[in-house]
Amino acid sequence: MTFRIAPSILSADFARLGEEVRNVIDAGADLIHFDVMDNHYVPNLTIGPLVCEAVRPHAKRADGGKVPIDVHLMVKPVDRIVPDFAKAGADIISFHPEASEHIDRTLGLIRESGCKAGLVFNPATPLSYLDHVMDKVDLILIMSVNPGFGGQKFIPGALAKLREAKQRIVQSGRSIWLEVDGGVKADNIADIARAGADTFVAGSAIFGGGNYPQKIAAMRAELAKAGA
Ligand code: DX5
Ligand code: ZN
Repeated sequence: MTFRIAPSILSADFARLGEEVRNVIDAGADLIHFDVMDNHYVPNLTIGPLVCEAVRPHAKRADGGKVPIDVHLMVKPVDRIVPDFAKAGADIISFHPEASEHIDRTLGLIRESGCKAGLVFNPATPLSYLDHVMDKVDLILIMSVNPGFGGQKFIPGALAKLREAKQRIVQSGRSIWLEVDGGVKADNIADIARAGADTFVAGSAIFGGGNYPQKIAAMRAELAKAGA
């Protein structure tokens, strides 16, 4: 089983963003999770394509290998901004189905732009949005908090939803990533992995309080317990 840890730079020091990205990659991050909020779809305002472009050169390993930028769009409308993020170096672009009038079209647009496409499910959003688009989805992101802010508490109902999403992925026969976002910490990550998640967003748990290598190592040690 491949587990991926995706630090959310929402909790990083924005005044030193390039350095924060490099440090968290040196500490073992597999992806850089990039939260885009518009003060419309969610009640907060964060960063856009210009910042993605500025971060892109920093998202690489010591050997020069590229680290994917995982863009989580919490914006409405979605389509206009997708090509901008693709040009800015995004590798994965995910959006909330409620924020797009034409989900199939938006998924197609993301892939045509050369990125992997993800659908994001708020705690109260049903997985039935996947019914007719499983062949167009590369990633399913289950929100374990209501989107808009870092540092919230994990909503336990996300575990059952992850299990259901995992079942849908298995049935599809495709290798779709199952990501979880919100309140993920070393002390709950093993249970979340057992529910089927393979990709773990963590903001405050990694960026809060320093020592990123130790924080990521603690998560990996817990994931190892959840089974290979
Ligand atoms: C919330 C964001 C998350 C957030 C997670 O709307 O999508 O990515 O940064 O933060 P933590 O890990 O602190 O809950
Ligand atoms: Zn996010």
